[in-house]
Amino acid sequence: MDWRAGAGSALHGSVSIPGDKSVSHRAIMLAALADGVSTIDGFLEGEDTRATAAIFSNMGVRIDTPSPSRRIVHGVGIDGLHAPVAPLDCGNAGTGMRLLAGLLAAQRFDSTLTGDDSLRKRPMRRVTDPLAAMGAWIDASDGGLPPLHIHGGRQLHGARHALDVASAQVKSALLLAGLYAQGDTEVVEPHPTRDYTERMLAAFDVDLEFSPGYARLRGGQRLRATDVVVPADFSSAAFFLVAASIVPGSDLCLRAVGLNPRRTGLLHVLRHMGADIEEVNASHCGGEPVADLRVRHAQLRGIEVSEALVPDMIDEFPALFVAAACAEGPTVVRGAAELRVKESDRIAVMAEGLRATGIQVDETPDGATIHPAPLRGGIVHSHADHRIAMAFAVAAQVATGEIHICDVANVATSFPGFDALAREAGFNLT
Ligand code: S3P
Repeated sequence: MDWRAGAGSALHGSVSIPGDKSVSHRAIMLAALADGVSTIDGFLEGEDTRATAAIFSNMGVRIDTPSPSRRIVHGVGIDGLHAPVAPLDCGNAGTGMRLLAGLLAAQRFDSTLTGDDSLRKRPMRRVTDPLAAMGAWIDASDGGLPPLHIHGGRQLHGARHALDVASAQVKSALLLAGLYAQGDTEVVEPHPTRDYTERMLAAFDVDLEFSPGYARLRGGQRLRATDVVVPADFSSAAFFLVAASIVPGSDLCLRAVGLNPRRTGLLHVLRHMGADIEEVNASHCGGEPVADLRVRHAQLRGIEVSEALVPDMIDEFPALFVAAACAEGPTVVRGAAELRVKESDRIAVMAEGLRATGIQVDETPDGATIHPAPLRGGIVHSHADHRIAMAFAVAAQVATGEIHICDVANVATSFPGFDALAREAGFNLT
């Protein structure tokens, strides 16, 4: 599936962004393990999160869908999962696979986690090594790649993990394993990452200690069912934030977007670049700060992105590269080598696509310098990466010619209906 996109009209109106992917994955997992029935509202109907729900159904958890974006999960209790009869397919979802690796390492039964071509190229030693230090036994393919064969029946023991990589997925995998471990599991991060697992464990009545960059829990606790409300995904909103900033005349409102401080690095960076983004109707949704974001066109300036903000905007670099291509003066990104092991090598793939549309990008191992110029039409390959596809749909809105974006089906992993919503706001995208 491909898109053809070109200069559109100014973006106007009010847009409701779908539910947060990270929160939706975790809500299914914790609700499945809880005692009692939990309701999830605002669940992301994306392929990634639906794959996670299907995996729990395959392990005997009843999950009802009374209406779109709502799930009723009949928790089976911490020891109630059934052995799956076939490999569990996480699709494109790194979050699904890494969190499940932690959870399944502690079960009585064996299991296998697999995924699509992109996921089968993503590094898993970052979870399998620290899980092994807790007593887990996980076989990966050569180079530590999926599929993961997880041996059950292991009694895990708590450990203190000082992580080298700032990763909420790794931290979460260890905490989920820690629920079953003897003793305490402690995680210390090199930079604080999103703390949804910690907040949600607390909401499910688990006693744990956490602060930015640190978490600790005692094994052997049970979870009590609760209702979860999922806020709108900031990472999906990011494409509209950049689009309305770069398309002249735009004035767009994004309703009730999740503003967890570990997710909003792009907001700081765009404002530093001169963007006009106002937060209105601030409130809370499911324990998370949310606000409507009103974004109006503004001339952006290139900046040096602070390395300290990289973990807080780790999913937003494709969108940022497009903003940088439309700014005045170069933008420099450093300290972002993690981008090379996302759904695609996002430094290389964004550089390739921007070059194909007239922008000079100097790549480094851990970042890039983007030299703005008028964006032209051209052919861009998303390498099956949802965020690359959406980033170039945004870029095309200010291009002098048509941008043909190849291989966009995976947008459905995180943002089903992106194209229809974008057209409603004023995008030229078919
Ligand atoms: C996520 C953590 C981040 C992020 C991913 C979702 C999560 O990955 O890129 O999209 O839900 O925990 P890392 O933990 O690899 O940084």
